[in-house]
Amino acid sequence: TKEIRIAIDGPAAAGKSTIAKLVAEKLGYTYIDTGAMYRALTYKAIGAGIDLDKAADVEALLPGTEIELKAGDKGQTVWLDGQDVTDEIRTDAVTNGVSAVSAHAGVRAYMVDAQRRMAEEGGVVMDGRDIGTAVLPDAELKVFMTASVEERARRRHAENLRRGFESSIDQLAQEIALRDKKDSEREISPLTKAEDAALLDTTSLSISEAAEAIMDLVREKV
Ligand code: C5P
Repeated sequence: TKEIRIAIDGPAAAGKSTIAKLVAEKLGYTYIDTGAMYRALTYKAIGAGIDLDKAADVEALLPGTEIELKAGDKGQTVWLDGQDVTDEIRTDAVTNGVSAVSAHAGVRAYMVDAQRRMAEEGGVVMDGRDIGTAVLPDAELKVFMTASVEERARRRHAENLRRGFESSIDQLAQEIALRDKKDSEREISPLTKAEDAALLDTTSLSISEAAEAIMDLVREKV
């Protein structure tokens, strides 16, 4: 069977990474979390005390930056300049700053280029916001995954509690809605469904049901 490229896009906390990981596992494909790459750069910019809205200042970090996604026993880890930042990139500061960083033209060009190289060989499940529209416009399968804001906030809340973080559903719903707005309204490759993407609303689906829905689409392609 041929090794296809699967692009999964959608708004924040729609279950993309959980489901993309599961699909990748089932297929023996590589999972690529592109949001983690933007988060790693955001973490670096915050640490450097940079104003995240200043494109030139954020972009000046890129030449000296090395971001790696590594597959391990406990799942994917994210490395920034040789340091494991897997947990650090999930803090509120990074989550609430990442949309500003990812809106800059130079940042997007750098990331898109790196992501295309990662997908060159096929056999990948890549999740993000612009995979089907900009990174891999000719991906064999594109899925646009959504869920209601309320459901997404509930899921993120449950995840926070599991990780031992403090959490408020109302605040999460607000933050998620604001991040979606910023990601959808930015000028360069905003979050939008590719015309040829299948729409998958996971509001009332379990993780395994959503993964199975994608596997059905995969079976039509391989
Ligand atoms: O997927 P995740 O929520 O970790 O993504 C974090 C942020 O990174 C998004 O809110 C968006 O601003 C940015 N992003 C992007 N393009 C992608 C993936 C993520 O702009 N392909």
